[in-house]
Amino acid sequence: MEQEKRGQWTSNFGFLMAAIGSAVGLGNIWGFPYKMGANGGFIFLIIYLAMVSFVGIATMLGELTLGRKYGMGVIGTYRKISEKYTWIGWLGWFSGFLILSFYSVLGGFTLRYFIGFLLELFSSGAGFGGADSGAFFGGFILNAPMSILFHALFMATTVYIVMGGISGGIEKFSAIAMPTLFVMLVIVVIRSITLEGSFVGLEFMFKPDFESLKEIGLMRVLKTAAGQMFFSLSLGMGCMITYGSYLSKKENLEWNATLIPIADTAIATLSALAVLPAVGAFIYQGVEGVSFGAGPGLLFVTLHRVFSVGMGGAMGNFFGAFFYFLVFIAAVTSSISLLEVCTAYLIDRRVEKGLEPNRKKITLIMGTVIFFLGFPVAMDGLGAGKAGGALIDIPATIFGMQEVRVAFDCWLDFYDMIAEGVFMPLGAMLMSIIIGWKLKTTIIKDEVEESPGIKMKAYNFWDICFKYIVPVAMFFVLLGQLDDFFGLGIF
Ligand code: PFF
Repeated sequence: MEQEKRGQWTSNFGFLMAAIGSAVGLGNIWGFPYKMGANGGFIFLIIYLAMVSFVGIATMLGELTLGRKYGMGVIGTYRKISEKYTWIGWLGWFSGFLILSFYSVLGGFTLRYFIGFLLELFSSGAGFGGADSGAFFGGFILNAPMSILFHALFMATTVYIVMGGISGGIEKFSAIAMPTLFVMLVIVVIRSITLEGSFVGLEFMFKPDFESLKEIGLMRVLKTAAGQMFFSLSLGMGCMITYGSYLSKKENLEWNATLIPIADTAIATLSALAVLPAVGAFIYQGVEGVSFGAGPGLLFVTLHRVFSVGMGGAMGNFFGAFFYFLVFIAAVTSSISLLEVCTAYLIDRRVEKGLEPNRKKITLIMGTVIFFLGFPVAMDGLGAGKAGGALIDIPATIFGMQEVRVAFDCWLDFYDMIAEGVFMPLGAMLMSIIIGWKLKTTIIKDEVEESPGIKMKAYNFWDICFKYIVPVAMFFVLLGQLDDFFGLGIF
């Protein structure tokens, strides 16, 4: 009865589309291509695959299993394991707020660019006012009311879908959006790799680059791959716990937990094939201002130039609109999962008390809170707007020995540091320790085998993953993130 009130996926396909939709997002299309190119190309891909195989799949299995076993969102699940672990659930829940607040601002940017190219298709100059890519982006992010407007539109879309419920909103949307996204991505890949000079990008991506690996250092590359992996798979904040809690006992957890990371990695690689060969082609063709840059510049400046100057004309505008719409869909299927993490807790509480879930109202309230939390992110122009430099910049020493610099350029970095930097790797690390050492891995086996006729295939492997590999890897990610954010100089 309770389960009925909370909602359930109607089919395993619907669940998979929603979970893969959560995983596939800005992290894949934006983060992965650049990180792969800049961190040793093919070697990075191999390291990434190893991380997914030994850490990602097990963590995914752990989250889905806990969710299905306890039938609750992230806070309820940890509370049911033991009152003393409830705080781990809170870390995840709070991370959802922080991540969604900046994710939505960036999602709003993709919407702006989609509309921009669409308008350009009908009338030249209508979408971007004839401005140069860099100048347009600089102007846009400093135009706070505009950023807020698109942040609001993105958030409204997210709220609208989550209000529809698990099967009627999230599943229904994902079941259409994800196959569409896949087909669109393949079309963009074909266009990208058939451009003249695309081999420059393919080389950047795939050539095993031992030189840069030596320069960057294997430890740093490992850390980058691990950090990217757990963000890309939506792990560490209970998103998959929440999605797992709506899964029927019929479905095969082990199989699902393997399939989601495989699909996510395949789409990340396809995204790299969509983005980098196009950038490489226009470097080859000598288009000014196109380079394999990082950060917001790659997605919003370089790619804008690729479409508007490189391809140019109606074809450029068409592919521009097509590409940013694709990124927008990818971002929405992730943002709905983030909002669901926040919403599920309050719904669970009401259902526990025997009350009506009141999903619509709760979703609206959560969405509004997150919308306001995103205000500073939307208003500080990603750090470009402050005359005085960084948002926070405090040089400090630890135990009088280690020089660190607590510095954030902008609110986005600050939110990201708390969530992705600390709470999420800590959450994933603690979850694997709890499963491996406290509850024991048999709890995973028992839950997997709750499904009629299903026997767990790789129990011994998962056992080693939960006990040793995942905790160590997550500790490593945590250190790596702290190192990045505070300049500790460990790696
Ligand atoms: N996996 C998403 C991406 O790659 O963009 C981001 C994300 C979604 C992270 C949901 C965490 C989460 F719970």
